[in-house]
Amino acid sequence: IGDLIGLTPALGWNSWNAFGLSVTDEKVRIAAQTMIDKLSAHGWNYINIDDGWEAEKRSASGEIVTNQKFPDMKATTDYVHSLGLKMGIYSSPGPLTCGGYLGSWQHEDQDAKTYGDWGIDYLKYDWCSYTEVAPKNLTLDDMKKPYQVMRASLNKVPRDIMYSFCQYGMGKVWNWGAEVGGNSWRTTGDITDTWKSMTDIGFSQMAAAPHAEPGHFNDPDMLIVGKVGWGDSQHNTRLTPDEQYTHISLWSLLSSPLLIGCDMGKLDKFTLGLLTNDEVLAINQDALGKEATQAVKNDNYQIWIKDMADGGKAVGIFNTSDKYQAITLNRDENGLKGLTKMRDAWRQKGIIAGAGNYTVNVAPHGVMLVRLNK
Ligand code: DGJ
Repeated sequence: IGDLIGLTPALGWNSWNAFGLSVTDEKVRIAAQTMIDKLSAHGWNYINIDDGWEAEKRSASGEIVTNQKFPDMKATTDYVHSLGLKMGIYSSPGPLTCGGYLGSWQHEDQDAKTYGDWGIDYLKYDWCSYTEVAPKNLTLDDMKKPYQVMRASLNKVPRDIMYSFCQYGMGKVWNWGAEVGGNSWRTTGDITDTWKSMTDIGFSQMAAAPHAEPGHFNDPDMLIVGKVGWGDSQHNTRLTPDEQYTHISLWSLLSSPLLIGCDMGKLDKFTLGLLTNDEVLAINQDALGKEATQAVKNDNYQIWIKDMADGGKAVGIFNTSDKYQAITLNRDENGLKGLTKMRDAWRQKGIIAGAGNYTVNVAPHGVMLVRLNK
């Protein structure tokens, strides 16, 4: 494994799904304090600022500077570090970010140095206006280039900075994200808080799956739980409770970075429970770093299976229909043979021992998430 970082998927918070471009220093500090009060004991540790912190013009010497919503990024980072958490930031390889603020185009070394000086631990690098400066008919090399340029710049900084690619899966990034030095890469366009969006993304990750490993993870985008709104008319996620169990179960099986996308100041009890189940998080954080693959799919349900470091398997039994379904898991197939111990991860209890068929009644759009062991 050498000197890789990010050996398990990042667990943290990102400002985008809650605040969009209206993220502020105060909101980031509230997120950090809430993480300490309620989440960090379960492994959560990244506080990531997405688009919206940057100024519209560089300093006279060409340095990236913050806008008025972030009076002093070094002070904010020091505060996040003082709590024992890590700080993430966002930029684009283009002249502008998607939100129209400054990107890092032709200032990559300078920006990487600034991040290092501030104490940044994580960079999300979002393609956006790079299209305007890239060749017209993009080749694979053209797609890799801006990520290689920033990789080289980050390598000059004496600091471990997690590097997260955001280019929406272009050029099947999962095939080359690791080679270009990414710790994670988005595999799709932006998620929104609907069953359709979440499942279109979550259940279509098979091509990318073989490429997950410690230090390199596929990223099917951030969590849509709690109060979301992208900075506009904030509302509780439109996913039902069962759909939210599906979301977290699936993202855990996929070894996805788990980046909470809600207003942390308004974290409700249900969302907190969803994010602090240690048996579920252990499936996401498994040291083997494998990604689940689809073992069964039909009109009513899907079964996804993930290899675990202890030789066992984690299995998601997903009811994708809108009626209750009695779903049967055959424990003699798909590598499950001999794994006769079974635990229900969400309920944190042993449920049944033995082999052969196990049938469970799963709620509409809900899930049964289990771990099987010898
Ligand atoms: C597009 C990305 O996919 C989002 O996650 C977010 O970072 C926005 N850009 C910010 O402008």
